[in-house]
Amino acid sequence: MRALYCLIGDPVEHSVSPHMFNAAFRHGGLDDHLYVAVRVGRRELKSFVEHSRLMGFKGFNVTIPHKVAVMEFLDRLDGEAEEVGAVNTVEVASRYLKGYNTDVIAIKKIIPRRWAEDSAAAILGVGGAARAAAIALRDLGCARQVYVGRREKTLREMGRFASMRGIEHTLLKFTSKDLDKKLGEVKIVVNATPVGMYPNTRGCPLPREMISSGKLYLDMVYNPPETLLLRTARKRGGVVVGGLDMLVAQAVEAFKIWMGRRPSPDAMRRAALKGLRGFRR
Ligand SMILES: NC(=O)c1ccc[n+]([C@@H]2O[C@H](COP(=O)([O-])OP(=O)(O)OC[C@H]3O[C@@H](n4cnc5c(N)ncnc54)[C@H](OP(=O)(O)O)[C@@H]3O)[C@@H](O)[C@H]2O)c1
Repeated sequence: MRALYCLIGDPVEHSVSPHMFNAAFRHGGLDDHLYVAVRVGRRELKSFVEHSRLMGFKGFNVTIPHKVAVMEFLDRLDGEAEEVGAVNTVEVASRYLKGYNTDVIAIKKIIPRRWAEDSAAAILGVGGAARAAAIALRDLGCARQVYVGRREKTLREMGRFASMRGIEHTLLKFTSKDLDKKLGEVKIVVNATPVGMYPNTRGCPLPREMISSGKLYLDMVYNPPETLLLRTARKRGGVVVGGLDMLVAQAVEAFKIWMGRRPSPDAMRRAALKGLRGFRR
């Protein structure tokens, strides 16, 4: 019998996760393993999770809009998932369902500690991925964080989230006249908004004059692999980390949870790139 894994979300049609995981399975000689994308609507979530074992799934990834909602149907949560308040990977064991947040682990792997330690960072966007970045940067030793958002309400929620986790922070709107000055004080800038994502590839979350050298830029957007933000930062002498690195790193961690061994990140990356090219055609 095949060992089944999947991604649940709505929509899932444009996901490259099946490309990445099936490539990792083939590369690892796991020919009887299969990963599929399953569109699960909000009203179907409870039923899917409760029947996941019965349907033969050994694990599944979770994407928008279920990363928070799925938590109430699980038996256990890993420390990072508990702290972020969101799950992107579920282990289906014989006696329990356990949720993980591999975005946090991935960010900790792709941002070198020397950049984060005792420094300040700016996170653009205040959604789920921004929270994962806040926890990861805190764990890497980042002393101060600046959260940049477009709405008072979600900015304040992010502020409460950070306060409860002991993170020293400042809240700023994208339109604030202090943005330039505050960005001048940070060493790391993380884009956790969808701005710049295909098909709106001319979008950039910051005015170009605010993108400077001497900083590390992580753009979580992975389609295109090099966004306008990263291209500008690279040309100006900044250090850049792409969303594809994060996508592969979080998938590597999910694979390790399910299989107990490390997959080939190169095989996963090649497959993701191939999948992305297919969607852009
Ligand atoms: N590479 C990876 O492995 C990886 C992993 C996770 C997420 N991501 C990417 O990260 C991005 C954020 O994901 P998420 O799960 O955090 O989504 P989310 O929970 O929906 O949060 C998105 C955030 O971006 C803000 N935003 C949206 N459009 C904006 C705009 N035009 N200008 C300024 N801010 C804007 C939203 O503002 P409001 O608060 O005002 O709504 C919100 O704060 C997505 O592109 C996602 O694909 C990548």
